[in-house]
Amino acid sequence: MNKSPNIISEPANPDNSSLPKQVRIWDLPTRVFHWALVFMVALAWISSEAEGSLLFIHVYSGTLLLGFVVFRLVWGIIGSRHALFTDFVFSWEIVRDYTIKLLTFRPPYSVGHNPLGGWMVVALLVVMTLAVLSGMMSSEDGYRGPLAHIGFGGDIHEGMANLFGFLIFVHIGGVVAHGLISGENLPRAMISGIKNIPARIGASDIRNVGVLRPAIAVAMAVVAVWLFWS
Ligand code: HEM
Ligand code: HEM
Repeated sequence: MNKSPNIISEPANPDNSSLPKQVRIWDLPTRVFHWALVFMVALAWISSEAEGSLLFIHVYSGTLLLGFVVFRLVWGIIGSRHALFTDFVFSWEIVRDYTIKLLTFRPPYSVGHNPLGGWMVVALLVVMTLAVLSGMMSSEDGYRGPLAHIGFGGDIHEGMANLFGFLIFVHIGGVVAHGLISGENLPRAMISGIKNIPARIGASDIRNVGVLRPAIAVAMAVVAVWLFWS
């Protein structure tokens, strides 16, 4: 767990330049992951009420989401600086201090995910995993999930899906609120990878991630999906 946040509340670059710097903070795999995830979750939701053979659109898009979870877990260990769990999973003390400062409208600047956003990323991944696993425990319309023998499908799956929907709502609300309060456009950074960082903050471009590390993460995701494809 990160005990020294990527937040710099004191001037780290106290020269006379006051112009924001353009800094590359999100690597390509993280950005592709995010927007492909949004697409796949939307597909799983839209198809969730489908019946008969159309239910398979739901089952397949949901099963692919398992691959997204595995990819992100691996990328949180071997990805670039701000994609690493050690960069954005902060201790309780830091989250508490950040929250107090946020509530008094003076949050310190975060280069990557802020301490609250970091835990929201963890919560989204955990609840999405539970939604996927409980989906695999469900049976309906002649479909029998690969984990149906364990039980816990049906109502639990619906409950997990609703909890996931609630977290997504809070996540998007947080991004919009951040934009309104600070004027910072976080979705644009999640598209381009680049943030306009205030001159007083010490931040540098992430390193190139190459091809091998993304390939390892994708390969592990493919194996996970293959194991549960039914
Ligand atoms: C199905 C809906 C969504 C899900 C499941 C989702 C999930 C996530 C996850 C897991 C991350 C962490 C990214 C990473 O480090 O890998 C993230 C970050 C982010 N998401 Fe979403 N997201 C959703 C929709 C959206 C939408 C619609 C927007 C645009 C308004 C958005 C904007 C962002 C931004 C800006 C970040 C980075 C936040 C930061 O700078 O700390 N997300 N999202
Ligand atoms: C994050 C991923 C997922 C989400 C958000 C999701 C969401 C939902 C929702 C909202 C329903 C409708 C519940 C109802 O009104 O009865 C549903 C039903 C269903 N889902 Fe999923 N699901 C996901 C993943 C999966 C997976 C991976 C599978 C199987 C491999 C699956 C299998 C089913 C089945 C069989 C049903 C119909 C039976 C039931 O109601 O339990 N789902 N899902």
